[in-house]
Amino acid sequence: LFAGAADFFHAADKLAVLPPMRGHEIAFAGRSNVGKSSLINALTGRNALARTSHTPGRTQQLNFFDIAGRLTLVDMPGYGYAAVEKAKVAAWTALIHDYLRGRANLARVYVLVDSRHGLKPNDAAVLDELDKAAVSYQIVLTKADALKQAEIQARLDATAAAIARRPAAFPEIVLTSSRTDDGIQDLRASIARLLAE
Ligand code: GTP
Ligand code: MG
Repeated sequence: LFAGAADFFHAADKLAVLPPMRGHEIAFAGRSNVGKSSLINALTGRNALARTSHTPGRTQQLNFFDIAGRLTLVDMPGYGYAAVEKAKVAAWTALIHDYLRGRANLARVYVLVDSRHGLKPNDAAVLDELDKAAVSYQIVLTKADALKQAEIQARLDATAAAIARRPAAFPEIVLTSSRTDDGIQDLRASIARLLAE
C-alpha cells in the first residue's frame, strides 16, 4: 500500500470545499506541533509530501493525499496553541470538529498525542466528539525518541487508563517516532488491516 504512489490532491479550508468522497479516508488529528504532518511523511516514506515546521500552526487546511488510488490520508490543522491569530485557530477547530463528525467515509481517526505531554483537555473534547459520533479512533503517541523507556511506559499506562471507558476508542495505543521510524511499520500494517476489513 505505502510502497506505491502518494500524491497531494486537495486542500480545504471549509466544509463547503471538501473533495467528493471516494473510498476510505483516514484522518490525522491532534494539537498543533504534535507531529501530524511528519507522521504522514514517515508513513509514505516521502520527506516533504506534507509540509512540516518547528512553529506550531504550519498546516492551515485539511490536506488530502491519495495513497496508491486505494486510500485517502487527511492531514489536519492542529488545535490548541499555534503561532497564528486566535481567530484562525478557532476556525480550524470548528472545521476539524465538523469534518470529524460528519464525514461518512472516515474509516478511522488517528489522534496524535505528544508522548512528552499526554492527553490535554482539548484532546478530550475531540475524543468526546468522536465517541458521540461513533467514529472509530486510535491514539498515537508521537515523538517517542524524546523520552526514556520508563517515561514511555508511564505515558502508555496513563493514556490507556484515560481511554479505557471511551466507546469509540481502539484500546491499543501506537507508539511512534517519525525521527527514528519506530512504530511506523506497525502503523502501516494497522492501516492495511483496516482496508482489508
Ligand atoms: P501543525 O501542522 O502546526 O499542527 O503541526 P504538526 O502536528 O503537523 O507537526 P509537524 O509534523 O509539523 O512537526 C512539528 C515539529 O515536531 C517539527 O519540528 C518536527 O520536526 C517535530 N517532530 C515531528 N515528529 C517528531 C518525532 O517523531 N520526534 C521528534 N523528536 N520531533 C518530531
Ligand atoms: Mg502539520
